Amino acid sequence: MQIRAAVATAKWEPFVIQTLELDEPRPDEVLVRVVATGVCHTDLVVRDQYYPTPLPAVLGHEGAGIVERVGERVTRVQPGEHVVMSFLTCGACSACHEGQPGQCPEFFALNFGGARGDHSQALRQDGQVLSSHFFGQSSFGTYALANERNVVKVPRDVPLEMLGPLGCGIQTGAGGVMNSLHPRAGTSIAVFGAGSVGLSAVMAARVVGCTTIIAVDTKPNRLELAQELGATHVVNAAESNAVEAIQSITDGGANYSLETTAVPAVFRQAVDALQVRGLCGLIGAAPLGTEATFDMNTLLFGRAIKGIVEGDSVPDVFIPRLIELYRQGRFPFDRLIRFYDLDQVNQAAEDSLTGITLKPVLRMQ
Ligand SMILES: NC(=O)c1ccc[n+]([C@@H]2O[C@H](COP(=O)([O-])OP(=O)(O)OC[C@H]3O[C@@H](n4cnc5c(N)ncnc54)[C@H](O)[C@@H]3O)[C@@H](O)[C@H]2O)c1
Ligand SMILES: [Zn+2]
Ligand SMILES: [Zn+2]
Repeated sequence: MQIRAAVATAKWEPFVIQTLELDEPRPDEVLVRVVATGVCHTDLVVRDQYYPTPLPAVLGHEGAGIVERVGERVTRVQPGEHVVMSFLTCGACSACHEGQPGQCPEFFALNFGGARGDHSQALRQDGQVLSSHFFGQSSFGTYALANERNVVKVPRDVPLEMLGPLGCGIQTGAGGVMNSLHPRAGTSIAVFGAGSVGLSAVMAARVVGCTTIIAVDTKPNRLELAQELGATHVVNAAESNAVEAIQSITDGGANYSLETTAVPAVFRQAVDALQVRGLCGLIGAAPLGTEATFDMNTLLFGRAIKGIVEGDSVPDVFIPRLIELYRQGRFPFDRLIRFYDLDQVNQAAEDSLTGITLKPVLRMQ
């Protein structure tokens, strides 16, 4: 079938809207009419080739839509149902079986490989093949092919057009707190980077009962929103020493910290700002090969670092929980979202990079 999609054509080049041919669903696949899709920082990281998904490609991995058709072996969803598309994993390894799909050894191949697990692509234009199945979906288009394993059924009484970002950025920030660090009520946490991931972490920290929630960023507008969403303190890292500020607020160091900037020097600050027995979660996705340094003694005396993929989330379980928290007014992630039309994808990307928009969401109409 024909679709309209935003194509990443080459490194650092803007997206181009093109008409493409998309395959019919295979027996285990689900064709989704995309209603809207979030733009995640990781889409831009790949467009700019810091991660090596072959271009040209249709990116997009925060799609929400309505099931149009399903392959003959699909049993989990039916045409007409509302779904969010999330990341894809093998479903068969020990990490997948033990509820840690973000640590599936096939994660990189299945989400960044630009093809199905068997290396086949589903998108063509004039005989030329494009990378497809980005995060098992490639949702920057009017239709997407997902696997039945990475679609999550969502209720119909919540606006579908805003749910896509639950599939990556928002579940990553919230899950980084609720699933990975799971701080005890009454503890302190410092969140470095107040983008959509960091602010989702701030909201989650309030949900789980952290009583000191410190947001660190260099953009005053983001710090202001962090306070509205639950930060008890904010630190502008452009104006003050973040480590000293956190040590002063927490009387020695935070119990938990979360790194969402992908900047090595900030990662170090997130570790240095911990008190003894503190735990730092790393979420920021730096270019392959990026190194960070620490004083070995900082770690030796009882601090730890944990790498976090997709908030250690099991999307089928976690996304409905976030929706219920949203319904109760305890997780107002809609405040991060600004809508654009698919044709405005380059504006959306630019507004995300300059910091004007927290979470751009492209509507397909
Ligand atoms: N690990 C995962 O599974 C996963 C999933 C989704 C996104 N990510 C990554 O998470 C990161 C955050 O995503 P996002 O959408 O929130 O991005 P974003 O760009 O909106 O947010 C990053 C924030 O960091 C701030 N920042 C930059 N330099 C800083 C500094 N020196 N000190 C303090 N703050 C600084 C920026 O002002 C910005 O607000 C990205 O690297 C993205 O690729 C990882
Ligand atoms: Zn993402
Ligand atoms: Zn697996």
